[in-house]
Amino acid sequence: MTVTPVISGAGEAAAILRAGGIVGLPTETVYGLAAVATDSSAVARVFSAKGRPNDHPLIVHVDSPEMASRYGDMNETATKLASAVWPGPLTLLLERTPLVGDDITGGRDTVAVRMPRHHAALAVIGLCGEGLVAPSANRFGHVSPTTVRHVLDDLDGLIDAVLDGGTCEVGIESTIVDCTGVLQVLRPGAVTVADIEACTGRPVMDTRGPSRAPGMLASHYAPEARVHLVRSVDDALGLEAELVADGSTVVLLGRGLGITEYAATLYEMMRHADDSGARHIIALEPTGEGLEAAVRDRLRKAAADTAR
Ligand code: TXA
Ligand code: MG
Repeated sequence: MTVTPVISGAGEAAAILRAGGIVGLPTETVYGLAAVATDSSAVARVFSAKGRPNDHPLIVHVDSPEMASRYGDMNETATKLASAVWPGPLTLLLERTPLVGDDITGGRDTVAVRMPRHHAALAVIGLCGEGLVAPSANRFGHVSPTTVRHVLDDLDGLIDAVLDGGTCEVGIESTIVDCTGVLQVLRPGAVTVADIEACTGRPVMDTRGPSRAPGMLASHYAPEARVHLVRSVDDALGLEAELVADGSTVVLLGRGLGITEYAATLYEMMRHADDSGARHIIALEPTGEGLEAAVRDRLRKAAADTAR
């Protein structure tokens, strides 16, 4: 039995949010933990339910580019990207408007905005009539949730409801692109550098130096099991044999999967490995660009965080 109710109606979710509640919300990437963006006490509950540091800024989820422009300056680049990709797994970093509170941005002069490609999320935002913050609906530092079960595993009893929208299609978090100056990808995702360059006609610069997206370099995306990265099935099997000989339980990730399926099942498989008590995860590291680079990014963070 869980304490937090699982609901299926967008109307019910919107009613809870409009009354100041916080609700697990499905999107095409991962489940978010939603609150009305301008409701500072609901936003504060989002931080405390997740155990998230207050200076980590949140993404505002909108149902149109017009709604986005209430929160941030939709300059020419942002407008091009929004019309090409939204609704979809792309978050735009914009200069913020006065409507946006310091609690959402961690005091920054920028705001992150995205229009998700999930009918239930869009319906709830539409019924609320305003933007919803929605960080991934996991305890801080844990892997993001891609099912209702994952949300409850992390946040049962701490949130007012979870809206059931099935399994998330993409499986890893949105691409974040800084549109405020030099074009930069702050977090890789399903929308690729090549997509962004083709759409804007502008070059995307490498992100160098300290990341401008707080939380991107810290402990994130980590399962309990130790994550080892390998480049070939042979290497995976060799390492597996060594670890098993030591008496460890091992789970292999990525073998025989296309990259779309790998991304879609990555967090599910990590959580499954932990639930089964595995001590080690051996993951095949994709070497290509695009979604392969995004999966590689999450795997490297998980490997760095679990190295001990
Ligand atoms: O796919 C997604 O983006 C999911 C779904 C639920 O929409 N959301 C998500 O939110 O991944 P969250 O809070 O787990 O990650 C948002 C990231 C954080 O790393 C945060 O630092 C960055 O976005 N971010 C948000 N606002 C920012 C800002 N003003 N400047 C720099 N980074 C920002
Ligand atoms: Mg997150």
